Amino acid sequence: MKPTQDRVQQLPQLVRLLMLLTAAVVLVLVVVLTQLYGPAPAAPEVVANEATEGPPPPGSYRRPATPAPDTATIPRTAAGRQIRYGRELIANTAQYLGPQGSVLHLTNGMNCQNCHLQAGTQGFANNYLAVAATYPKLRARSGQVEGIEKRVNDCLERSLNGRPLADSSREMRAMVAYIKWLGQGIAKGKKVYGTGFVKLAYLDRATDPVMGKAVYAGKCQSCHGPEGQGQPLADGRGYQYPPLWGPHSYNDGAGLFRVTNFAKYVKAAMPYGATFDHPQLTDKQAWDVAAFVNSQPRPHLKTTHDWPDISKKPIDHPFGPYADAFSVQQHKYGPWQPIEAAQTAKTN
Ligand code: HEC
Ligand code: HEC
Repeated sequence: MKPTQDRVQQLPQLVRLLMLLTAAVVLVLVVVLTQLYGPAPAAPEVVANEATEGPPPPGSYRRPATPAPDTATIPRTAAGRQIRYGRELIANTAQYLGPQGSVLHLTNGMNCQNCHLQAGTQGFANNYLAVAATYPKLRARSGQVEGIEKRVNDCLERSLNGRPLADSSREMRAMVAYIKWLGQGIAKGKKVYGTGFVKLAYLDRATDPVMGKAVYAGKCQSCHGPEGQGQPLADGRGYQYPPLWGPHSYNDGAGLFRVTNFAKYVKAAMPYGATFDHPQLTDKQAWDVAAFVNSQPRPHLKTTHDWPDISKKPIDHPFGPYADAFSVQQHKYGPWQPIEAAQTAKTN
């Protein structure tokens, strides 16, 4: 009698155990499935207007950059085709305008996208979102009011060490159409979070090309090559990894030839895969590698008309004459605080 009774009593226990087990399995499944397919963890709020929000404190670039409009929304019309062509020209410039370009031979083989990452949409990697809202504008470099076409030609002549396009050319009209399409949602004059460069505090010493050379060897050379020459594509119509110096790189009139621009750019964008919210270089590495790369040889551009008002030259402008007595060397490589202090003293 006793053993049977025991078995009867054991049965519900077994059932209970089974039920518990099933519940546990279901729970685990639910947790795993919601992790996989459930709503993403709440993203921080997108802040599109730095003017009302105020800039984030230096070093705290944690907000998502303002997103670009979805390319799937480009209309399937003639205007849409022009926008797509403009995007294609910016992403694969060399195929069309490079030394073996299918349209014209204007440039050094680099692409706009080499510096304006993700066709000019990546946050703090030279993105174009604010261009339509801020041009035409007065630029101190030329002392003139410049439209988007002039700005594009500036990069063609300097960053791509090439020749300008006619404003009326199919290619210029397409690139401008794409840039305007990117900026469609942004009101005139509004500041957009993610454009320009990240802020980087000056070092309390001059930037150092010798230290930068070691950074280059460790973190850049594998792609950009031991001589900064980059890695050409197999068909020779452009680059897999663009050159950083030498005859096929940007010239000394380009924006990246300024050490501060270069440092801020690579801090938020290089080695490839880095982003402003996931940088891979320390500030020091970014500053020193900028000094190293910009101490290497590259094409020269005659820029006799630049900066008609020398007092407006950026602090790190690498060519004199200057409105102060600091050397070319110090303007180019820093330390910049003494120059800044002298400028502040003068204006106060
Ligand atoms: C070698 C890097 C490099 C390449 C290649 C390059 N640019 Fe630029 N571009 C820059 C930098 C750096 C700036 C901003 C710095 C400055 O103003 O001095 C800039 C600025 C611009 C701006 C103004 C952005 C703004 O918000 O004011 C436009 C428009 C532009 N480039 C278009 C182009 C186009 C189109 C191409 C290709 C034909 C191109 N760039 C190729 C580096 C590059
Ligand atoms: C994993 C490969 C890789 C590494 C490592 C890398 N880059 Fe780049 N870099 C690229 C690619 C690819 C591009 C072009 C991006 C594009 O076209 O979308 C680029 C573009 C650039 C540009 C703008 C275009 C030009 O040629 O002037 C600069 C400047 C640059 N890299 C600097 C650096 C520096 C400095 C380092 C080291 C701290 C570095 N990169 C490490 C792959 C790399």
